[in-house]
Amino acid sequence: MDLTWIGSTISGRGRIGIRTSSSTAICLVVRGLKVEDPRMSFTAFNIILDDGTETKPEIGSPMSQHPWFLSAKRCLQVLYPQGFEGLRIVDLACLEGGYAVEFARLGFAQALGIEARPSNFANCMFVKERVNLPNLSFVQDDVWNLEKYGTFDVIFCSGILYHLETPKRFIELMARVAGKAVLINTHFATEAPIAAFGLSEMDENEGLPGRWFKEPPAIDDNKWASWGNSRSFWIQREYLIQTIRDAGFPIVFEQYDLLGDEIAKSMTSGYYKSDNRGLFVGVKI
Ligand SMILES: C[S@@+](CC[C@H](N)C(=O)[O-])C[C@H]1O[C@@H](n2cnc3c(N)ncnc32)[C@H](O)[C@@H]1O
Repeated sequence: MDLTWIGSTISGRGRIGIRTSSSTAICLVVRGLKVEDPRMSFTAFNIILDDGTETKPEIGSPMSQHPWFLSAKRCLQVLYPQGFEGLRIVDLACLEGGYAVEFARLGFAQALGIEARPSNFANCMFVKERVNLPNLSFVQDDVWNLEKYGTFDVIFCSGILYHLETPKRFIELMARVAGKAVLINTHFATEAPIAAFGLSEMDENEGLPGRWFKEPPAIDDNKWASWGNSRSFWIQREYLIQTIRDAGFPIVFEQYDLLGDEIAKSMTSGYYKSDNRGLFVGVKI
């Protein structure tokens, strides 16, 4: 349909616009309207719900355009050029379900989000009830129980490895249930210290070098924190790559396009350098 923008008005936090087409159809566009539900407070993901409302419009762009989601999507499209029909993907520690929703929208046969924290899981269910995606589901559980849910073609492990005390054991667990690939978006340690996060001196854990991260004490209040462990271990980058390979993924690569257009800048003086975070992909052949 050929749509032409004919006007808009500010209403609350959102913008209501009316578009008309060359045909007689007129549609009301409610993009930018925040979900008005006092029970819900979304901390990260701006998901567009089926009625056009957004879970966190102040972000300014939808989850489907999030650079980290787009990076994962590009990787998945390379791994599965024929599409995602018949495939299962799991989104570990899925927070408010943003990635899982977008994976379901990409056409995976099943996109399962696993989240332990009750308040985050409630947000996931809020979203689930407002999108018509039968292939999307959520469970409230600890990611350490992953094997309960069978095998998955793809494991999406974003923002959780660095919240675990024994990350090597977790990578080995993921290798047992991954049919083809694991995408790990994670912080890592470097021999040179970084100022951020108050990490420990270099140490050894599970036979690997890295640094300890102290989790916030009130684990229930901090929606992004660990669940059940008070410290987490960040593996030194080189050994993280080795561990993914040793766990059973002969192809391992680091995908840099989540850093945006200025990759070198990010790695020398920007986010990658200051926060030590990247996307590591392991693939079975
Ligand atoms: C930093 S957030 C990352 C959220 C999301 N995966 C992302 O990449 O943006 C960490 C998430 O992990 C959840 N979490 C922490 N430990 C967990 C565990 N053992 N099992 C399940 N979820 C956990 C937290 O509740 C939170 O939603």
